[in-house]
Amino acid sequence: MTDDTVARLRTAVGRELPRARADLERLVRIPGIAFPGFDQAELERSAEAVAELLTAAGLTAEVVRAGGAPAVIGHRPGPPGAPTVLLYAHHDVQPAGDEALWDTPPFEPVERDGRLYGRGAADDKAGLMAHLTAIRAHGDDLPVGVVVLVEGEEEYGSDSLGALIEQHRDRLRADVIVIADSTNWDVGVPALTTSLRGIVNCVVEVRTLQRPVHSGIHGGPVPDALTALARLLATLHDAAGDVAVAGLGTERTSTVDLPEARVRAEAGVLAGVELIGSGALTDRLWYRPALCVLGVDAPPVDGSPNALVAAARAKLSIRLAPGDDPEKALTAVREHVEAHRPWGAEVTVEPAGHGASCVIDTSGPRAAAVRAALRAAWDGVDPVEIGLGGSIPGIAAFQDAFPAATIAVTGVEDPHTGAHGPNESLHLGEFARVCLAEALLLVEVARAG
Ligand code: BES
Ligand code: MN
Repeated sequence: MTDDTVARLRTAVGRELPRARADLERLVRIPGIAFPGFDQAELERSAEAVAELLTAAGLTAEVVRAGGAPAVIGHRPGPPGAPTVLLYAHHDVQPAGDEALWDTPPFEPVERDGRLYGRGAADDKAGLMAHLTAIRAHGDDLPVGVVVLVEGEEEYGSDSLGALIEQHRDRLRADVIVIADSTNWDVGVPALTTSLRGIVNCVVEVRTLQRPVHSGIHGGPVPDALTALARLLATLHDAAGDVAVAGLGTERTSTVDLPEARVRAEAGVLAGVELIGSGALTDRLWYRPALCVLGVDAPPVDGSPNALVAAARAKLSIRLAPGDDPEKALTAVREHVEAHRPWGAEVTVEPAGHGASCVIDTSGPRAAAVRAALRAAWDGVDPVEIGLGGSIPGIAAFQDAFPAATIAVTGVEDPHTGAHGPNESLHLGEFARVCLAEALLLVEVARAG
């Protein structure tokens, strides 16, 4: 691309940033959460606000749904013969979690030290705003046709996205699909994501007694369900800390690694606590299964009587290697649990949501166009090709529906974003680069044809 194009779009994006910032703040103030138990009217308001923004940017926009949360589809045709680019983001966010851990209220956007804080300020309302800013920066001269799809339940597993894509297949058809929901390598270094892990959640329940009974009268020979559950959970990793569930796949090995100090610092691992598992850290984070316990139902410590616990539950979350199948993985977990029933306890496994993994092909001229756009926006710094430990279940649905499309997984996050945790934030300088990269990408894709 010419220096001229870069300079022109840099200026145009710069002009658009204040408005992008104001719109982003307005969106952050709407707590649209697709989890049960949260006010679904907020999700509707959020979708309406997104539709208004798209309409104001000259797109034909509509709130749509396929039995799930409201999504928004907008489109604007390009010049005759130009390719079509589908721009994906999600407007729903994770719950705020324990608000006491936030330095400022989660749904009141605040800038500190060049970062904008708030739930969704990065994940993924800034992804949506990057799409919009790229479109706005081109004014009346959009070089490609665009379709914008803003999902409303990504953080809750994207259960209806496949059906939604099916329903609107003709409107969504595109040559290139840009998924702005991932992370960059570091502040100042872009990334292009080439694989994502899948996910399977399930609830394991362990029962040993008909009802709680006196722990002094019966304790000794009679097993309590909470200890049994703890023993079961302890079988899920081997001595080295690798996942011990047989039948879970692993993918490839990494070409880049991360220093242990960086992994520890970014996760806030306490001094003296070991990292678990074996192999390169990027393999453990991107290409291999991981298993954690998200929650436990058992009597709370305060007020717990001296009684043997009759039943206890744990929610397990298994991240799957790219290419591994959630259904197969759930079967593997069931078989493991069945084979490791502690003390003959009754054990059940109930599925609690899943998302597909994916591997993305980054060969070909269109992917090269995306890399060139990232490089230009980051002043000549090449994007690092990364795997992602997290999941974006919709990508596999796009791959199924549009096998010929080039998929580019980009994003606004950086290692300090803190998505899903307290004090999530967006680096505003990097956000400007993402917007410029996307504006350039539209030009480069048009050129690549
Ligand atoms: N934006 C994230 C994906 C991501 C993870 C990007 C890590 C960068 C770093 C996405 O919104 C997300 O969190 N997805 C969920 C999907 C799940 C609910 C099926 C996840 O991975 O937990
Ligand atoms: Mn996201």
